[in-house]
Amino acid sequence: MADNEKMLVSAESQGQAEEQTEFTLRPQTLDEYLGQERVKKELAVYIEAAKKRDEALDHVLLYGPPGLGKTTLAFVIANELGVHLKSTSGPAIEKAGDLVALLTDLEPGDILFIDEIHRLAKPIEEVLYSAMEDYYVDIVIGEGQTTHAVHVPLPPFTLIGATTLAGQLAAPLRDRFGIVEHLQYYKTAELGKIISRSSAVFNIKIAPAATQELARRSRGTPRVANRLLRRVRDFAQVKGESVISFPTTAASLKQLQVDDEGLDQTDRKILQVIIKNYHGGPVGIRTLAANTGEDVETIQSLYEPYLLQQGFLLMTPRGRMVTKKAYLQLGLPVPNE
Ligand SMILES: Nc1ncnc2c1ncn2[C@@H]1O[C@H](COP(=O)(O)OP(=O)(O)O)[C@@H](O)[C@H]1O
Ligand SMILES: [Mg+2]
Repeated sequence: MADNEKMLVSAESQGQAEEQTEFTLRPQTLDEYLGQERVKKELAVYIEAAKKRDEALDHVLLYGPPGLGKTTLAFVIANELGVHLKSTSGPAIEKAGDLVALLTDLEPGDILFIDEIHRLAKPIEEVLYSAMEDYYVDIVIGEGQTTHAVHVPLPPFTLIGATTLAGQLAAPLRDRFGIVEHLQYYKTAELGKIISRSSAVFNIKIAPAATQELARRSRGTPRVANRLLRRVRDFAQVKGESVISFPTTAASLKQLQVDDEGLDQTDRKILQVIIKNYHGGPVGIRTLAANTGEDVETIQSLYEPYLLQQGFLLMTPRGRMVTKKAYLQLGLPVPNE
C-alpha cells in the first residue's frame, strides 16, 4: 500500500472511530444535555405543550457552529417527545422523490431531521414548503402525454433542520420554522461538566485542574473537548499515569499545537495571513480562503465565528480585520495606529 493510501485509510478509520465515540457520548435527555440553558428551557415548554395537545411539535431550526450539539439536540427532542426520528442531510437528498419517500414513511408526530439544510437543492426545498405548512406534497409523475399531478397528504410531522450557516437559508424556508434556536459557544464551566461526563462514560480518571484546563482550551465546543480528552488520555496512558494530571494535559495540548486561548493551527494561520499578507486587513472571505487553503464555508462556519466571538477578528463592511489582541496572541509587534 502506498504511503498516502495508508494515510487515507487511517484518516478514514479515525473518522469512523470519532463518529462512534460521538454516538456513545450523546446525551439522551434534556437533563443530560448540559449547557444551552435558555434553549433547553424554551424547548422543554414547547415539548410539554405539544405532548399535552397530542400534536406534532412545531418545526425547529437549530443553528450554530459545528460541534455545539445540534444533531444531539435533535435526537434529544425526539426522545423527549417519544417519537421516531428519521435523519438525512441537505446534500444527501438528490431528487424530490427521495424527500417524498422520507415524508410518506413518517408516522404522526414523527421527526424528519435534515442536517446541513442550507445545502438543500432549490426544487427540493420548494417541496418542503407545502409539506411544512399544510402537510401535503404535490408531485408530478409520468412523462409527456401521461404527465399528471398527484396530491399526497402527509401525517402531521416535525421538521428539525440544522445549519451552520443560517444566513444562507432562503427566507421562505426560514419563515416556516416556528421554533428557531441559536446554539452558543459553551462556557468553560459547562465544558468542564461535559468533560467530566465523558470521562465517566469512558472510565477515564482526570484531575480537576486538568479538566478545567481542557475545558478552557476547547474553543467553547463539546466536540473539541471530547476529542482533546481522548488525545490527552493517549498521552497520559503512554506516560503510565492512572489519573490524567495537569502537567500532562498542558504538555499534550502544547504538542497538539492548541495554544493557551484554545486556538488551533488553522485559527492562527488565518490571523497570520491577514497580518502578514494584508497588513491586518480588511480582507475578503474568498481571498482568505485561497490564502489559507481552507474552503469558504469552513472558514465562515467553523473558524471565523470563534475568532470573532473571542475578539481576535472584526467584521467591517470591507472585510475581516484582525484586532490588537491577534498580534499579541501571535507574539507579533502591534503596528502604530
Ligand atoms: N449539550 C451537550 N452536552 C453534552 N455533550 C454534548 C452536548 N452538545 C454536544 N455534545 C457532544 O458533542 C458531540 C458533537 O455534538 P453534535 O450534536 O454532533 O454537534 P453538531 O451537530 O452541532 O455539529 C456529541 O457527540 C456530544 O457527545
Ligand atoms: Mg451535526
